[in-house]
Amino acid sequence: MKLLVTGGCGFIGANFIRRVLARHPDWSIINLDKLTYAGNRLNLLDLEASEPRYVFVQGDINDRSLVMDVLAGHGIDAVVNFAAESHVDRSIDDPSPFVATNVQGAQNLLECARQSKVGRFVHISTDEVYGALGPTGKFTETTPLAPNSPYSASKAGADLMCRAYFETYGFPVLVTRCSNNYGPYQFPEKLIPLMYLNAKADKPLPVYGDGLNVRDWIYVDDHCQGVELVLLKGREGRAYNFGGNAEEANINVVRTMLAILGKPESLITHVTDRPGHDRRYAMDFSLAAEELGFAPTVDFATGLRRTVQWYEANGAWLDKVQSGEYRTFMDRWYEERTR
Ligand code: NAD
Ligand code: TYD
Repeated sequence: MKLLVTGGCGFIGANFIRRVLARHPDWSIINLDKLTYAGNRLNLLDLEASEPRYVFVQGDINDRSLVMDVLAGHGIDAVVNFAAESHVDRSIDDPSPFVATNVQGAQNLLECARQSKVGRFVHISTDEVYGALGPTGKFTETTPLAPNSPYSASKAGADLMCRAYFETYGFPVLVTRCSNNYGPYQFPEKLIPLMYLNAKADKPLPVYGDGLNVRDWIYVDDHCQGVELVLLKGREGRAYNFGGNAEEANINVVRTMLAILGKPESLITHVTDRPGHDRRYAMDFSLAAEELGFAPTVDFATGLRRTVQWYEANGAWLDKVQSGEYRTFMDRWYEERTR
């Protein structure tokens, strides 16, 4: 199989590419990535040097002629679209790039793939399209979409466009909706790697609001397992939920990390809450379990220890990915929240 993976230089895409190249000796992958502040060619540089089944192309999913050329030039059988602006806080700061990539870019990719008669299109979405839960219950695939942030609204827009491409054109689209990922290569703007960085530097750990917002954490390779199963066995036109069965309040995640790192809880600093902060996410993934045989394999305690070990062993990576643009945004964002 010849796959076009978009956004493969990001966190989840890089893990997915490594997983499927290792598991499918007859598959090859073209990775189309714009290399935004969050994308790092470094994540897969070893494959560029050693793996003839891997090709990197720098470019934007909005670039129609480039995408058409890539699809035709490489005889692509299936597309997996990870490319996105992915950070909620940045979407609050400026929603425009989220619409440009997550909505318009996804539609451009769908249209190019449809015209090129690509046989399967897997679109990577998120549990955040469902909005927020109260203290009980879980999201199922029939939960109405009710996004609350510009990020989740843009992801919901793409989900609906995928649905329209299936209903209108019979184009073979499948959507995955997964909970919060963590693991190797996660960019240090998201909760877990940011808390790692700050704790290591003995800097304050900024916890939004009361810290009791709950996320359902999944180890990244388990999400990649889900995407692979959808690609191989999913039913066209369907959306599939994925989760890790690991609901944790943010404050517990932060405390556990401090314990692993041997750092004091006095580093925790409660800062101004995120506007529109979703209170709780939890995933019912019984459809994926029953239809695809999906089951998460890494429990949260093991996954968090493994993740910390990865960051400990990859300090040079952490240094390199913190560009000037990254530092400027982070300084401004957290300065505004601690005033
Ligand atoms: P990320 O920010 O680490 O990576 C995104 C990648 O997309 C980067 O390499 C970036 O350069 C690339 N990109 C951005 N705009 C592009 C464009 N216009 N054209 C081509 N490439 C572009 O994100 P991630 O955490 O790896 O998330 C990947 C996907 O999974 C996203 O669609 C996200 O919405 C979804 N998702 C993420 C999580 C999570 O917890 N991180 C959970 C569920 C779903
Ligand atoms: P994040 O990693 O940004 O993922 P998402 O917003 O997509 O769930 O945040 C995870 C949780 O951690 C979320 O409830 C917001 C919270 N959070 C903080 O408390 N402090 C921070 O500095 C960040 C980045 C997140």
